[in-house]
Amino acid sequence: MASRNCSNFFPGLTCSLFLLLGLLSFPAEAAIKKYQFDVQVNNVSRLCHAKPIVTVNGRFPGPTIYVREGDRVLVNVTNHAQYNMSIHWHGLKQYRNGWADGPAYITQCPIKTGNSYTYDFNVTGQRGTLWWHAHIFWLRATVYGAIVIMPKPGTPFPFPQPNREEVILLGEWWHTDVEEVEKQGQKMGLPPNMSDAHTINGKPGPLFPCSEKHTFAMEVESGKTYLLRIINAALNDELFFAIAGHNFTVVEVDAVYTKPFTTEAILIAPGQTTNVLVQANQKPGRYFMAARPFNDAPIPVDNKTATGILQYKGIPNSLLPTLAQLPASNDSEFALNYNKKLRSLNSPKFPADVPQKVDRKLFYTIGFGKDSCPTCVNGTRLLATLNNISFVMPQTALLQAHYFNLKGVFKADFPDKPPKPFNYTGAPLTASLGTSRATRLSKIAFNSTIELVLQDTNLLTVESHPFHLHGYNFFVVGTGIGNFDPVKDPANYNLVDPIERNTAAVPTGGVWFMHCHLELHTGWGLKTAFAVEDGPGPDQSVLPPPTDLPPC
Ligand code: C2O
Repeated sequence: MASRNCSNFFPGLTCSLFLLLGLLSFPAEAAIKKYQFDVQVNNVSRLCHAKPIVTVNGRFPGPTIYVREGDRVLVNVTNHAQYNMSIHWHGLKQYRNGWADGPAYITQCPIKTGNSYTYDFNVTGQRGTLWWHAHIFWLRATVYGAIVIMPKPGTPFPFPQPNREEVILLGEWWHTDVEEVEKQGQKMGLPPNMSDAHTINGKPGPLFPCSEKHTFAMEVESGKTYLLRIINAALNDELFFAIAGHNFTVVEVDAVYTKPFTTEAILIAPGQTTNVLVQANQKPGRYFMAARPFNDAPIPVDNKTATGILQYKGIPNSLLPTLAQLPASNDSEFALNYNKKLRSLNSPKFPADVPQKVDRKLFYTIGFGKDSCPTCVNGTRLLATLNNISFVMPQTALLQAHYFNLKGVFKADFPDKPPKPFNYTGAPLTASLGTSRATRLSKIAFNSTIELVLQDTNLLTVESHPFHLHGYNFFVVGTGIGNFDPVKDPANYNLVDPIERNTAAVPTGGVWFMHCHLELHTGWGLKTAFAVEDGPGPDQSVLPPPTDLPPC
């Protein structure tokens, strides 16, 4: 299975997803691309302060992985930092090969300081922009980079060939050590400090102090077309992104081609990727690009704007750039309209194979809860829940427990629906609903199609939740405000060209993580996993674990 976001959850919003859990076969002949990732600590200065951060190969953001559809990729990760860690290849379908997926304690134990692990995987049936990031606690704040998958040789893009392309990684920056920020929050039982800046390719831009030299600039030539591969690597913020005076044509999200549409700004949630074409068709000059959060929930957010510069060739740096217009931070209408425009390309070459028949229906509520915590400020600690269960990370990786049939690591009894139905989006509920903490998974039959309805609730507060599923893609067949109506709503599903926010053809078994891609909520337990059974065929079962798989 793969991962991706159920687009953007707005307050009281539901989202229905179809997942097809099966297997593809693929030819073996392919190029092998090898990368060495040295995870190390480097001093980096931003916003007038220097601090040590964890990097890959001393680079921030980390190196881009370039591959072609059909390639085999070997990334040897050597951990020289003091933190145990793992790396996730976000959005890659790992056929039969969860061992290379990367989430710590889900598919592997972390790579300990001084040790190495080689992630070995095939890139099959996907092309476009994905990304990689550390997958343990908050380390991904600085440990991330792009994955560019070019189409097979001789297969052009289904849109005008750009003259050049550029990766745009959006991120968040904290003055202090992020691992400390997170620990502090855990200790207090409260949300940790919000970030101090947003960044474009690791740089906050000239609107921040001491940041003139930390400004991302991209040079363009009049009349040329550029492909921007935009990735939201922020921990907690859904972002708007725009370039002054220039429209975008959206052509792909999450490594799936879309029906092209023009927009002045994009909206991108943590974990998502968006490819856009931009034409250098304005008066030669300097134009700001800008990223700032979308937030229509009653919670505080770092609302500072990161900027970079689109610069026409030959224009002097002394010219003041034109400011970019972004939708207002709470512009829910823009958000809803934008997400409505996202449709799969669904061409003969790139069809949207939307399953028309569902084998099993799941209904998961998203909520918050509280746990007693005598040492915390209010005597309680915030939790986030699915079906009122806050997920507890195990000590042994779930995939190992599943593969070797180890008892006592998890229970495969995650409920298909909430224990007690209630008015999910009525008046805010503060009453305790008996939130439990457990490591419970849902068992999924091989090659089955699942309808998953994610229902946001008013438990404590409403908030948006970009859900990400590892190993698989899903089709977002419907979204809406309020309570899901099982009688009326399915009639409005888009079963023709819904956006696919991970690929649909499906792998075999294994254990596949699903979680909110807001790191804050993940930390509070807003996650679960699917244990997908093996199929009967010889190529339909999880491969044996690699010999260098990090031990627990
Ligand atoms: Cu991009 Cu489980 O994460």
